[in-house]
Amino acid sequence: MTTAAAWLPTVVEIALTAGGALDGPDPDIAVTGFTIDSRTVARGECFVALRDQRDGHEFVADAFARGALTALVSYRPAGVRADLPLIVVDDPLTALGDLGAAARDRLTDAQVVGVTGSAGKTSAKELIAAAMARRYHVHANEKSFNNEFGVPLTLLAAPAGTEVMVVEMGERKVGDIAYLSRIARPHVGVVTNVGLAHAEFLGGAAGAARVLAELVESLPPSGLAVLDADDAYTKELRARTVASVLTAGTRSDRRPDILVSMVTVDDGLRPTLRIECDWGSGETQLALLGEHQVHNAGLAAAVALAAEVPFVDVLAGLAEARGAPWRMQLDRSASGLVVVNDAYNASPEPMAAALQALARLRVPGGARRIAVLGEMRELGAAAPEEHARVGLRAAQLGIDVLVTVGEGGRMIAAGVPQGDGPGLGMEVLAAGDADMVVGVLEGRLRPGDAVLVKASRSVGLERVAVWLLELEVTE
Ligand SMILES: Nc1ncnc2c1ncn2[C@@H]1O[C@H](COP(=O)(O)OP(=O)(O)O)[C@@H](O)[C@H]1O
Ligand SMILES: [Mg+2]
Repeated sequence: MTTAAAWLPTVVEIALTAGGALDGPDPDIAVTGFTIDSRTVARGECFVALRDQRDGHEFVADAFARGALTALVSYRPAGVRADLPLIVVDDPLTALGDLGAAARDRLTDAQVVGVTGSAGKTSAKELIAAAMARRYHVHANEKSFNNEFGVPLTLLAAPAGTEVMVVEMGERKVGDIAYLSRIARPHVGVVTNVGLAHAEFLGGAAGAARVLAELVESLPPSGLAVLDADDAYTKELRARTVASVLTAGTRSDRRPDILVSMVTVDDGLRPTLRIECDWGSGETQLALLGEHQVHNAGLAAAVALAAEVPFVDVLAGLAEARGAPWRMQLDRSASGLVVVNDAYNASPEPMAAALQALARLRVPGGARRIAVLGEMRELGAAAPEEHARVGLRAAQLGIDVLVTVGEGGRMIAAGVPQGDGPGLGMEVLAAGDADMVVGVLEGRLRPGDAVLVKASRSVGLERVAVWLLELEVTE
């Protein structure tokens, strides 16, 4: 971030906003920003000491050494000199939320767009930001900074002149989205879809729907909810909001306000889509990969069109949204392998979408489509059934080789239909863990083969992608 934030409070203002006490001298100057990572402290910033994997209080001295002006803490850590100004609060995380809300309140002229969903939050955030950027000054979360510290930090970093804020909101438990919505106070709420991500903590898809609905419940009557008309839970979400509703979707029988359809997918998995609605009709090609992005693009178009971005600018803007590393990242190796690295995270719907994309990928004659798949974590009781479904789906889609990784992979293999009838010829191999995939695939790969790697982050399949790209493969 290089542009100065719109709201740069003084140390005393921070203490007042956060309900804290100033401990130490009052420097009587404004901070230059907020950070929670002492390694990236810029001069003059306020360091917020949070408890995550480590306790941020351990790094307060380091933050000052790197030029922090002040720190938001729950106590003065040992080794932090008494002449360094601290703001002491009961809970720095809650204080950060209060500061984020205060920053939001100062963006009186900005339109705030909240984005949540089981999958596709970051993609939709990027698409919305890109579609709006043709007409407005847009500020959005960096990467996937979508939780109880990412959202306030996003609001606090909004530069002066921000006209549209796009705020991705992550859901891990009941109340998360309500909490983030109280901080961000969105006018527009986008729910990308309802699925099984974090099902273990949310209570299945029905539980996910209730948590995701917290976003649309938070909208004012003058607000706008943007929903996927294809999604089974859209009716329920619609019933939970007093705001107006716009829908986007691919099925004309559901009469979405924005009808999106896939036209083609190119050799690099880039979809070309068509949009038809009251605002116009036309086509655009996305840089985000996979057919499923068509849904996210439809939602993004709805947000931008409702905000009066001209139709042609929406089409052009959507084409500019870029994907993030390890999410459907397609690379070609020097040896001629196509590697689709989707190892960032995994849950059932994105897994199905990734397999569908692999099945669509054109490969030269004789080359194969190979799926290296591991566990989808946090599914709770649904895990065996959902993993088995993935194995079945891979076989049905005509994937040539399935390499299962670890115990989760075993559950996937359990769903692969037995026998060798039509569509039943998928070869199934097993690797004990990510590092063992090398041994399983080495010597079997040929130039032109396409390999998808996907599992929950902790399985570590991104290492497999790196290895595949470096591998020398010959006929
Ligand atoms: N509408 C969708 N349906 C199914 N999978 C999707 C959808 N949108 C994105 N995905 C996939 O879900 C994964 C995460 O995408 P991302 O946009 O980062 O979502 P999130 O921020 O919700 O984790 C990627 O593998 C992506 O390809
Ligand atoms: Mg995300």
